[in-house]
Amino acid sequence: MRLEYLDAMGIQAWERRAGPVSAPEISGRDGFETRLYPEQEGEKPIFSNPPLNKGGRGYPWDELQAQAMACTACALHKGRTQAVFGVGSHQAQWMIVGEAPGADEDRQGEPFVGRAGRLLNAMLFAIGLKREEVYIANVVKCRPPNNRDPLPEEAAACGTYLKRQIALLQPKVILVVGRVAAHNLLKTDSTLGALRGKRYSYADTGIPVVVTYHPAYLLRSPREKRKAWEDLQFARRVFSEYP
Ligand code: URA
Ligand code: SF4
Repeated sequence: MRLEYLDAMGIQAWERRAGPVSAPEISGRDGFETRLYPEQEGEKPIFSNPPLNKGGRGYPWDELQAQAMACTACALHKGRTQAVFGVGSHQAQWMIVGEAPGADEDRQGEPFVGRAGRLLNAMLFAIGLKREEVYIANVVKCRPPNNRDPLPEEAAACGTYLKRQIALLQPKVILVVGRVAAHNLLKTDSTLGALRGKRYSYADTGIPVVVTYHPAYLLRSPREKRKAWEDLQFARRVFSEYP
């Protein structure tokens, strides 16, 4: 069965020969790598009753999505076909966070639908998850021009949406793919190599965060898929250990 999963991720037989992969050691106090970021001065804590549904009418997810679809809070709105809010189950225990929509996503209105998305699906399948069972979102909801990295001010402007998505979902684990998403979620500028293999916590929520390579990077550097496989195993363990 595991071989099937590795095939789905495109990991070659010769790469498997190193034998079973044990998850990297968890470091830090209480088995936690506590890289928390403080709430901004005057900002409400994330789980304090997000004001999504003031009138008591409507579904908070729909309201948040409607806000994003009409959002003009940063310059990225100018170049978008549509905002790409997020996709998946609102009951999901796993949340996947990427960087920003690309051309395919901008056109279709759904995150991770291009080539990188197909690899992401395979990565999820490799740990027994169907795409429909998880919730997938990006740090910014609108496509940056020429696929450039989102600017800090764009990520900051868009952060409220992601934050509220996390607050609504309350996932049991957040799998962050790629350097840009990791830097934004964890408020760090460490290299991806230094970030992977550790358990972080999202803001002050205690929700575990695990970092791995972006599938678009893995398409360019297929040899790193083996490390991504280790990260996925690690994420699965973190998930199963979270109460
Ligand atoms: N890359 C991302 O980070 N997100 C997408 O939705 C698509 C590609
Ligand atoms: Fe609004 Fe985010 Fe789109 Fe910027 S990227 S316009 S903050 S939805």
